[in-house]
Amino acid sequence: MDRILIRGGNRLSGRIAISGAKNAALTLMPCALLTDEPLTLRNLPRLADVDSFGHLLNQLGVSTMVEGAHPTDFGRVMTMRAARLTSTVAPYDIVRKMRASILVLGPLLGRMGEATVSLPGGCAIGNRPIDLHLKALDSMGAEIEIAAGYVKATAPGGRLKGGRVSFPVVSVGATENAVMAAVTAQGTTVIENAAREPEIVDLCNLLTAMGAVIDGVGTETLTIEGRDRLHGATYQVMPDRIEAGSYACAAAITHGALELFGARANDMRATLAALSEAGITVEERPRSVYIEASNGIAPLTLSTAPYPGFATDMQAQFMAMLTRANGASVLTETIFENRYMHVPELARMGADIQVRGHAAVVRGVDRLVGAPVMATDLRASMSLILAGLAADGETQVNRVYHLDRGYERLEEKLQGVGADIERVGDG
Ligand code: EPU
Repeated sequence: MDRILIRGGNRLSGRIAISGAKNAALTLMPCALLTDEPLTLRNLPRLADVDSFGHLLNQLGVSTMVEGAHPTDFGRVMTMRAARLTSTVAPYDIVRKMRASILVLGPLLGRMGEATVSLPGGCAIGNRPIDLHLKALDSMGAEIEIAAGYVKATAPGGRLKGGRVSFPVVSVGATENAVMAAVTAQGTTVIENAAREPEIVDLCNLLTAMGAVIDGVGTETLTIEGRDRLHGATYQVMPDRIEAGSYACAAAITHGALELFGARANDMRATLAALSEAGITVEERPRSVYIEASNGIAPLTLSTAPYPGFATDMQAQFMAMLTRANGASVLTETIFENRYMHVPELARMGADIQVRGHAAVVRGVDRLVGAPVMATDLRASMSLILAGLAADGETQVNRVYHLDRGYERLEEKLQGVGADIERVGDG
């Protein structure tokens, strides 16, 4: 299994091109199921999760064609066409590897009037149930059965009906499934307490380009007028705000200066505000965001929240950065119950972190020391990379497959701005 080796201590400087957003790609790809015409997505990141989603679509009968697949290209163009679907089943083998597979449920049900998707099960960061996804589909008239580890949803008469979906808590995935189901339902659907993440705006923009009618995009109330059919489209995936935020933390923790090319400041206000509060220079430029750290890192008090709050997907990276702050920070995780798996690993590198319930107190230390480490999820793995960049000596990050799910060619991008980092195989 591959590992990443980092010899820490280099100050990073230069420009990093930000890739297309993983979490946008994973909700734009299932939109291919909603039309028999081609859907072309540009700027799709080269990531293991995008490949897995492509395989899942293939299993359902969707053809996928990739351009720009030269090994040195960043991003790809993929054309998907669901001329005729041959299956409505998302099997356990794929869903267990990638929870986002659940996002075929809404569009399959909308297009075919039925869908059978394996229950995703638990995850390293929390229980992550799908009750809200099912509640939304139920409000649109779906009949839902759970048996033998699968959820089977059927639309009586072959078509969902518009309805009122009111979420008790904000869920990105459940909002996405509800929107994708509603665009071809009969009548109008109102979704209340919808998630407002930029990836949901991206989803609504794509669906609008495919002929959907959605009002309230970017707000907590979405009103969707169902259409009999949607058509094909060509669409550019938004830049990855979490990748950009992660590299901003890399600039900060190495006292470096990075221009994050393609990053959109508007999508990452909470992250940029937190960086500024920590004393990091943030400069918004027309096509990039520039981050420079020259005066050390001030401690922060931060709590994760649904967008536009501070993203749970940035918590681990900020925690790594704050291990080098001049004082004590308090981070509170409110979205996932088990998202501190990086804490013991950071501690092995010399970090001083105490977790009390949902809060973590991070006391800045003078130095981190390289060590062999591993993490059980994507953002936790990134926090170890960040710590390794700032640590004395060598850090070995194991279980690289987590990083490959969400960071396009991480080591190449970091090498390009002066990091001493390489991927090594077992052999
Ligand atoms: N929840 C329920 N019931 C549901 C759905 C969610 O109780 O039916 C709970 C979850 O357990 C959690 C909270 O609601 O406590 C929010 O979860 P949400 O549904 O918003 O998360 P998600 O859609 O499963 C997406 C991202 C995550 C990101 C979260 C929160 C994708 C593919 N994944 O997950 O990204 O952390 O939103 O912003 O979009 C990552 O990229 O590393 C990652 C984990």
